[in-house]
Amino acid sequence: MAGLRHKEVWTEPTPAVREVQEYLAEIRRRLFNTDWDVTAWRCTKKSCSGRPHEGYDYPHARTQQREPPGDWRVFLMLGGRGSGKTWAASHIFSEWVFNDTEEGEYAIVSPTWRDVTTTCVQSRQSGILAALGGRQSGLVTSYTKSTGQIHLANGVTIHLATSEDGAVRLQGKNLSGVWGDEIGLWTDWETAWDESISYSVRKGRARIIATGTPKHSRRARRLIRRLIDDPAVRVAQLRTIDNADNLSAGMLSDLEAIKGTRLYRQEALGELMDDNPDALWTLDTIDPYRVTEVPVLDTIVIAVDPAMTTEGDETGIIVAGAMTVDKIRHMYVIADLSGRYHPEQMASVVAQALETYAADRVIAEVNQGGDFIGSVIHAHDPTIPYATVRATRGKALRAEPLSVHYTLGRVHHVGVYEELEDQMCQWSPGDKKSPDRLDALVWAAAGLGIIRETDSVAAYLSVFEPLVALAGERVDTW
Ligand SMILES: Nc1ncnc2c1ncn2[C@@H]1O[C@H](COP(=O)(O)OP(=O)(O)O)[C@@H](O)[C@H]1O
Ligand SMILES: [Mg+2]
Repeated sequence: MAGLRHKEVWTEPTPAVREVQEYLAEIRRRLFNTDWDVTAWRCTKKSCSGRPHEGYDYPHARTQQREPPGDWRVFLMLGGRGSGKTWAASHIFSEWVFNDTEEGEYAIVSPTWRDVTTTCVQSRQSGILAALGGRQSGLVTSYTKSTGQIHLANGVTIHLATSEDGAVRLQGKNLSGVWGDEIGLWTDWETAWDESISYSVRKGRARIIATGTPKHSRRARRLIRRLIDDPAVRVAQLRTIDNADNLSAGMLSDLEAIKGTRLYRQEALGELMDDNPDALWTLDTIDPYRVTEVPVLDTIVIAVDPAMTTEGDETGIIVAGAMTVDKIRHMYVIADLSGRYHPEQMASVVAQALETYAADRVIAEVNQGGDFIGSVIHAHDPTIPYATVRATRGKALRAEPLSVHYTLGRVHHVGVYEELEDQMCQWSPGDKKSPDRLDALVWAAAGLGIIRETDSVAAYLSVFEPLVALAGERVDTW
């Protein structure tokens, strides 16, 4: 047989086979009641796809989901949505606490209380209670959600904390390990990471595992950038597609719809995107003018950009208003209600928003395909005030004048619109794919008269004319 290499054959399990596999795995878990194996989630093959093979007849960790070998203090596991970060970290963390012989203290930090309790601890798919073998393993002796503490039979205590309040409850502790989930969404990361966590993780072998999808539009990208650039930090990058076996078709098609865009690189590949040099916006043109409250506005519109196809595409729905300060129109973005809707759902979201925001009218694009949105909305309620804008020019020409208004500090986001802002900062005018939220934003600006409907040159002029006039020149024609 020398010379013949063993070839691994793998056929996709049918849902029925998969169910049986899961059932067997459950029985195995129950049988291991007394002698529960905390390493069963990963095999010992050097490189593994995580699919069942000899000795591991159930889905288990892919190579990238294991903790790196050697001495390290910080392991950063970046990845796309649903790429298996939480699942992996949960198992790695469970091994740490399971193997602790010193009755150490540990912590899990997530953006919000709900995230840490529901996802990191209780989630049946990815949470640590499941990773620790559930109730039947006997390892978890108590979990008190209200105080955020988990006690294990080996004397270990796990504290739950949130980045929202800077994880201050960890300050003064001497922790043996920390798992930080969704660090891309951490709000007060300076306090949470640099103070609460860093000072409390100081024991000899104390380690930190940080997981998340890096979000370009969030403040915490600075933390992620710093960690990536730190040669002492181990970094892994998980792709959503590699976890396809364990994901719903809906989730995969959501991502498929944005394939080829920078957003896809962030959401599916887990890449930390820097500013796109070709984009019309950077966070620096949005952040400085952001406000927290909606002022009194003289006009409010709901702008709708229709989904082009029924499957995959989103309908962009942006609520925005305007007011005049010192003779200059300022625009405020007050809600992003975009989503994947059937036409009737879209109409009811719009009708509801009209009421909630006391909006003056609905604005939508009318193009060669006719006034699709108008028909759907009026079929839902013929009294809804409705206006159209016409797109006669290329997308770049429509969005560009609006970006000038941003640069001049005349457009304000009330709060953070992560997905919209990602589209704004990642989309290049050269891209074919149309970002629906951004389109709706442009329609809103057109509907509010911030930019002129069809003539982008005129829109530029409306911005620059006063400046040119100041310089003593008159511009009549271009
Ligand atoms: N190696 C794996 N084997 C089996 N299921 C997995 C594996 N990795 C992830 N999963 C499952 O895939 C889904 C997404 O994983 P999760 O860790 O929640 O993703 P995210 O990267 O968004 O945190 C969950 O249902 C999880 O249980
Ligand atoms: Mg997760």
